[in-house]
Amino acid sequence: MKNGTIWCDDQGNTIQAHGGMILRHEGVWYWYGEHKDAPVSIQNGMEHLNFVGISCYSSTDLMNWHHEGLCLTASEDPANDLYLDKIGERPKVLYNKKNNNFVMWWHVDRRDYEYAKQGVAIAERPEGPFRYVETIHPLRADSRDMTLFQDVDGKAYAIFSSDWNKTLRIGELNDDFTGYTGRYKDVMQGQSREAPALFYRDGLYYMITSGCTGWRPNSALYAVAEDLMGEWRLIDNPCMGPDYRNTFHGQSTYVFAVGEQLYLMLDHWKPGAHELKSSGYSFLPITVRGDYMEIPWQDEFVL
Ligand code: GAL
Repeated sequence: MKNGTIWCDDQGNTIQAHGGMILRHEGVWYWYGEHKDAPVSIQNGMEHLNFVGISCYSSTDLMNWHHEGLCLTASEDPANDLYLDKIGERPKVLYNKKNNNFVMWWHVDRRDYEYAKQGVAIAERPEGPFRYVETIHPLRADSRDMTLFQDVDGKAYAIFSSDWNKTLRIGELNDDFTGYTGRYKDVMQGQSREAPALFYRDGLYYMITSGCTGWRPNSALYAVAEDLMGEWRLIDNPCMGPDYRNTFHGQSTYVFAVGEQLYLMLDHWKPGAHELKSSGYSFLPITVRGDYMEIPWQDEFVL
């Protein structure tokens, strides 16, 4: 798996799991993401990559991936927020122990990115099918790039760019992970950060984000906090190596752990309705020591 390039599944097809995340459940890795190999239509005179659904891949070694198909599929009802004229981005899934089910949240939008909603769907099995629940404006606000984070105590949070991307909002989810409790915290206000990816290590919370330049790469920055809902301190760009200033031509989407080792997932976007499906991926090892973080470039993903 050569970092920065498109990867193939066990059938030789390009992996369509952009803006994705990796979940481990009962010894299997599940990779969820945007399926961009879809028809292009004209919406309001502009090319639009039809929303077809969210893909799920499974693997037992993080190297060989099997396509489980679309775990959330588009709706044929033009009034539904899963219709092809919508956008579905950055899907994230958590396992809910209380209900023994899987809850997906994702960014729902229109081509003009002014709809700015979140969707919720539920499945009994990690590979789906996910059943659409609803779309909302979380905490009565706009929401674009988003992620989910489960804390060590089991509580779940959605972290999303709000207030026209100016602020990152951390909202606590209810016990079912299907809605908000109302408790939230605004962080990095006025900093216009997006593409959040969080993790926890030895008493500190870490959040890697990108700037807001659309599909064009920019500098990643990380922030740390002692308390998820407390004060976050912006620290530095964690990337090291060639093109570290533009995140190796990539953008953060998720952090997963293999034992003690953390990896950052990047998307290497290829802008354009016909090109997005050829966007590449990277999984890069993360090193942390207190509030110091390093993400060196590696040509290949190796475990
Ligand atoms: C990026 C964002 C992507 C996508 C893109 C659209 O800033 O991270 O997920 O929304 O903008 O231009």
